[in-house]
Amino acid sequence: MLSLNAGTITAAYIAATILFILALGGLSNQETARRGNWYGITGMAIALLATIFGVVTKNYGLLLGALLIGATIGLLLARRVQMTQMPELVAILHSLVGAAAVFVGFASFMDPNSSYTGVEKTIHNIEIYIGILIGAVTFSGSVIAFGKLSGRIGGSPMLLPARHWLNLLLLLGAIWFGREFVIQAAAGGGMQPLIIMTVLALLFGIHMVMAIGGADMPVVVSMLNSYSGWAASATGFMLSNDLLIVTGALVGSSGAILSYIMCRAMNRKFLNVIAGGFGTGGGTSASGGEQDGEIVSVNPDETASMLAGAKEVMIIPGYGMAVAQAQHTVYEITKALRAKKVNVRFGIHPVAGRMPGHMNVLLAEAKVPYDIVYEMDEINDDFPDVDVSVVIGANDIVNPSAQDEPDSPIAGMPVLECWKGKTTIVLKRSMATGYAGVQNPLFFKENTRMLFGDAKETLDQVLKDLT
Ligand code: TAP
Repeated sequence: MLSLNAGTITAAYIAATILFILALGGLSNQETARRGNWYGITGMAIALLATIFGVVTKNYGLLLGALLIGATIGLLLARRVQMTQMPELVAILHSLVGAAAVFVGFASFMDPNSSYTGVEKTIHNIEIYIGILIGAVTFSGSVIAFGKLSGRIGGSPMLLPARHWLNLLLLLGAIWFGREFVIQAAAGGGMQPLIIMTVLALLFGIHMVMAIGGADMPVVVSMLNSYSGWAASATGFMLSNDLLIVTGALVGSSGAILSYIMCRAMNRKFLNVIAGGFGTGGGTSASGGEQDGEIVSVNPDETASMLAGAKEVMIIPGYGMAVAQAQHTVYEITKALRAKKVNVRFGIHPVAGRMPGHMNVLLAEAKVPYDIVYEMDEINDDFPDVDVSVVIGANDIVNPSAQDEPDSPIAGMPVLECWKGKTTIVLKRSMATGYAGVQNPLFFKENTRMLFGDAKETLDQVLKDLT
């Protein structure tokens, strides 16, 4: 078998690290995202080849078998998964990173060829302990997150009495058993406290995510993404693998930054999200006080003539567009309107849908040109000049009570101010609430029209009437 020398491995690892950083940079913008993905794929290929031919020295049969099984499962999942199921796929994949960290930790601890002694051994044992701790929390937390996102476990937060005390107790337990582990491991033992801590960490992961409501789950997935990075980094320390340390740190910090950005866009405090209790699964009955005003509905035909008669149209897509898979029809309508010299733009809220960039991905898939897709901050001041805003399956991100009602659960969340335009047409199937579970006064405003029905079906009809 080909064997690489240490210099070549280091050079390959540095190249992979640079490519991973370029990948993160590329993924931050939809125009460069495809390139970013290729940087990531190339970096991962280099990392794998350098590890297989440089670091691994035996058991190639086993390695090949595992690679084949893993790659086949990955390929099948990636081909089958729907965009709307992406967060749950990401959650279950994180659980694998966590499980891997736990297994590597135990294997590393039981390694009969380990040559560490004295202080080095203590440091190595601490790395193992921390790696297993983070890995176990990531594993069980991600499994629960997967269960909640896929509807296998109810979305409402499970709030045990004295749950913060329980968390504190689990944390103190983990610290206490860590001390026991280091002392016992120095004398040749330590397996018992290691196993007890693993069980405590698994329980902590379950309890932490069970306490978080459906509305906050995407933040939790991004937080678990961060944990999985730190778990990989800890594994890198255990295995003395620099690339794993750096890659884990990149994943860990980018996941933490993403969680922070999502919390800010939802006007939630990160610690508040982690403490749990907010968000109910949402989406059925409307909560909130009586609304002033009447609901005025329109049909697809009227919608088409309003759109054709407009000069400025703003399309605001939300989660419902993803559910209805209406993005292709939306683009066909856009083309038809542009042919009639109507200026059509898209306004994208940072947390529209169920994951960061959800709407951008769908619009890119439908081949909507990037130069008519705007971020919320870029177009929010333009609404007074907009003739018709079309809200497609969005709710919370266009809810004026975020600005007007200080008691609202979404108070302070920045929203797209479409009601400042001349007319708003809202496409949805019923009067059900969005993810945050709150009523939306926009639907009752004088200049709002409701187009009820599945967004794909109603838009297909609008397109027919337009062309
Ligand atoms: P939502 O507030 O969840 O509203 C979606 C609306 O789409 C629902 O009111 C639903 O009404 C409608 N809908 C569902 N299926 C439809 C279909 N087939 N045809 C037409 N309409 C359909 O979505 P949003 O406005 O995009 O806001 C996102 C929410 O998710 C925010 O609360 C945000 O904080 C939260 N969130 C997002 C993220 C990220 S990163 N995107 C992260 C965390 C939390 P009907 O049932 O009446 O049709």
